Amino acid sequence: APIKSKLRDVPTYLDKRVVVQAWVKSRRDQGKDMMFLVLRDGTGYLQCVLTGKLCHTYDALTLTLESTVTVYGTVNQLPEGKTAAGNVELVVDYWEVIGKAPSGEDAYSSLFNTESNPDVLRRLRHLVLRGDTASSVLKVRSRTMKAFRDHFDSLQWYEVNPPCLVQTQVEGGATLFSLNYYGQEAYLTQSSQLYLETCLASLGSVYTITESFRAEKSHTRRHLSEYSHCEAEIPFITFNEMLDIIENMIKDVVGRLWNEPETRRMLIELNLRKNDEANDETKAAQIVGRNFADIKALIDQPFLRMKYVDAIKWLNEHGVKREEDGQDFEYGDDIPEKPERYMTDCINKPILLTHFPRSIKAFYMQPADPTSIEDYEKYKCDPPTESVDLLVPGVGEIVGGSMRLWNKDALLEAFKREGLNAEAYYWYLDQSRYGAMPHGGFGLGIERFLAWITNRYTVRDVCLYPRFTECCQP
Ligand code: 4AD
Ligand code: MG
Repeated sequence: APIKSKLRDVPTYLDKRVVVQAWVKSRRDQGKDMMFLVLRDGTGYLQCVLTGKLCHTYDALTLTLESTVTVYGTVNQLPEGKTAAGNVELVVDYWEVIGKAPSGEDAYSSLFNTESNPDVLRRLRHLVLRGDTASSVLKVRSRTMKAFRDHFDSLQWYEVNPPCLVQTQVEGGATLFSLNYYGQEAYLTQSSQLYLETCLASLGSVYTITESFRAEKSHTRRHLSEYSHCEAEIPFITFNEMLDIIENMIKDVVGRLWNEPETRRMLIELNLRKNDEANDETKAAQIVGRNFADIKALIDQPFLRMKYVDAIKWLNEHGVKREEDGQDFEYGDDIPEKPERYMTDCINKPILLTHFPRSIKAFYMQPADPTSIEDYEKYKCDPPTESVDLLVPGVGEIVGGSMRLWNKDALLEAFKREGLNAEAYYWYLDQSRYGAMPHGGFGLGIERFLAWITNRYTVRDVCLYPRFTECCQP
């Protein structure tokens, strides 16, 4: 009996008879008596050669791309000078169509191409997924999720699964998606951070990879309405220890991906490739090919640690102005996406940007130790916090984190300042009553991390089905 094989394993069956089931990716006819098919099944590719009668049947004459087939044949080493996946070719002795894909106007190959309008590509995302680039990105994504879990597992931290339906906000009211929860107001979670904090006394350090939701009104290349959020929370640490934890995580995860030959191969190819099937505004952008080894080299250096005040200074020294009034940046200004990326691209290193003023950050951040801040008096009405953003070239912010307020009165004051109803946070406040401790954590946007390592222009290109303003389909 033939050996039933996935395409990735076919090269291991040299000279044996196998049967495979897959999609027809391409077809090339050589005269009437020879036909080459390249099959795809998600695990790999296989070139098949059909000769003589096998090419003369009705099914052979009408075989369309993306049809599914069952193919029987013998695995042959490729002759000198020819190339194909796995260096083998299947010499077919029998084959059948399982499901025939449309022809003519509806043929897969007529639906879209690299020049298609982004809206068309978005609407046809379920079919675009079958392309080489999109499938490589999704495979790298799968390996990345595993790499993050393996990283935390190596630290022996527990994974938890907080709910997405919540009644408290974490990152400000402006981006809340609200919904009717059996007649009560509820929201889609913006961050699982507060729930992670409640796990510290039970499990020690914890992490989660859960969807977060943000009603972002702006169209940018790095904002989604729904994204995969990798968050961790650690008890009894100092701010500097937290910075080390973030830096080590990025290094270890990139290292893990680099050490997998197949993942590294895909990353190298994706980084080189300028165009991609789902390239969105990419066409307008000058995303250029890049050597993934350069990213690996960047990662192996210590990350730059820089304070917010020094970033403001950097922007002013480099003539970068505020967009709204063309003036210099001042202490207390939010650093928007463009200047942030400009600075990161110029410095061309991962930057741990720290000590943001309280007024531009979320309510839960611990103020910095005054003795650690030069000219503290100047800033004390809007104190620097123990906060950090990790910025990387090409994307900007991929991680946001901080040490947390852990004193009950300080928390109550923060709720008041932000106009939050403390009663809804009774469970959160209990953390500051039943065994409080200094603690901190962070959140990493998986899509931003992926856009960075795969050299995609927009986070939309690393999602299975991206969710952003005006797009909730497919
Ligand atoms: O900086 P953010 O808003 O921080 C938090 O949510 C904290 N509660 C995390 C924590 O400390 N546990 O979001 C964290 C990261 C950002 O750095 C970014 O990578 C990503 O989440 N992110 C988004 N990614 C895609 N689309 C959006 N709209 C995003 N908003 C944030
Ligand atoms: Mg942030």
